[in-house]
Amino acid sequence: RTPVGQVGKRKITTIESLEKDGRLHPLQEAFLKEDAMQCGYCTSGMIMSGYALLQKSPDPSEAEIIRSLRGNICRCGVYQRILAAIKDGAKALQNK
Ligand code: FES
Repeated sequence: RTPVGQVGKRKITTIESLEKDGRLHPLQEAFLKEDAMQCGYCTSGMIMSGYALLQKSPDPSEAEIIRSLRGNICRCGVYQRILAAIKDGAKALQNK
């Protein structure tokens, strides 16, 4: 994780910026499709970690996805659905 003090003048991407022209990002759609949230407390972090991964690795292995989520805790335990959502999001982006 990056402390905000180290960001300097670099661009920051927030979850709010993923939606374009009133349409959710395919990864956000995949989280809805897979019902990959319960209380939603962890969801923004999970989506942004998945988004960052897919920027670097468009077709990640399950191990890569799990590694990318390290440090993100879901108290509701919906990890399997989060994993499925990131896989679905990756497929959706590849077919775009
Ligand atoms: Fe509740 Fe993850 S959905 S903490």
